Amino acid sequence: KPRLFSGIQPSSDSLHLGNYIGALLQWRELQRDHDAFFCVVDLHAITVPQDPKELAAKTRRTAAQYIAAGIDPTASTLYVQSHVPAHAELAWVLNTITGFGEAGRMTQFKDKSSRYGAEATSVGLFTYPVLMAADILLYDAEVVPVGDDQRQHVELTRDLAERFNSRFGETFVVPKALIQKDTARIYDLQNPTSKMSKSADSVTGLILLLDEPSVTRKKIMRAVTDTDAVIRFDRDAKPGVSNLLAIYAALSGQTIETVSAEYEGKGYGDLKKGLAEVVIGEFEPVRARALELLDDPAELDRLLAANAGRASEVADATLAKAYERVGFLRRV
Ligand code: TYM
Repeated sequence: KPRLFSGIQPSSDSLHLGNYIGALLQWRELQRDHDAFFCVVDLHAITVPQDPKELAAKTRRTAAQYIAAGIDPTASTLYVQSHVPAHAELAWVLNTITGFGEAGRMTQFKDKSSRYGAEATSVGLFTYPVLMAADILLYDAEVVPVGDDQRQHVELTRDLAERFNSRFGETFVVPKALIQKDTARIYDLQNPTSKMSKSADSVTGLILLLDEPSVTRKKIMRAVTDTDAVIRFDRDAKPGVSNLLAIYAALSGQTIETVSAEYEGKGYGDLKKGLAEVVIGEFEPVRARALELLDDPAELDRLLAANAGRASEVADATLAKAYERVGFLRRV
């Protein structure tokens, strides 16, 4: 089976609809015919300030949501990044072959650093994409299913793999990003031209996996649309309605055309009501299962530890190979 790697940051209590559609929904399908590694990337999370009292709980909650959403921790390897030291170790080596200008061109870094200002921006945030490259390359992953916002980071990973291979000899598999066409980017319901994100200014446009159904319904009913009252998919002219249609299609397994046809001639209220049912129908069992898993944190921690053991075996072997290629003296 081809190898697959992906991850989500444990930077909030609940994952959101963008993570669900951009990542989890694909992961669930792909795990069947891939040897899949799904990581909770806590090393990435601390590139912006995290409350140490909350980080461990968020990490566990994120893992519980992976499982609740259908990731099978006996078939796939589901683990926590900081449990496998090889990630940080390979990242160091890759840092030394990454150009300063190259890292500076990452748009996510440019966005975040301009938001926080240079003084509040950590060097960790700057080298964050290099750590992501280490994640992927340690597992010889061929495919990396992500949302569109991670495309550039996977491109950098490919460049680094090729550079390392040509400088030090064939070592890494060059991976490919796997990005769904219409749902690569889910937008904020209040601000449908910016992507749905945990760092949104307000939570009203952010649909959370662990929200109560009544909260989810309210947020969907209040989604921003437009004034021409026609249900039609057109990203430029009708970003709000198009976002709702794309979400509906992704979760119901239909095409956008089918959903648009079903709602042709109906009102925005009908579309929102229908969408609320689809989202709640999808999220409710996931939410219930996640909360159930979180009732037994010790069991969850044991499962993560066992999976980290499996991940380490693969990661340590790749790291040893990379160290040897670079010329480090082997510790006998
Ligand atoms: P993160 O934690 O920001 O997001 C996790 C996944 O969710 C996708 N996503 C979205 N997809 C569609 N619409 C949205 N509005 C939306 N928001 C988020 C992201 O594209 C991602 O797939 N650097 C990564 C985590 C990471 C990683 C990796 C991913 C670390 N190492 C190795 C793949 C492979 C990140 O911050 O994702």
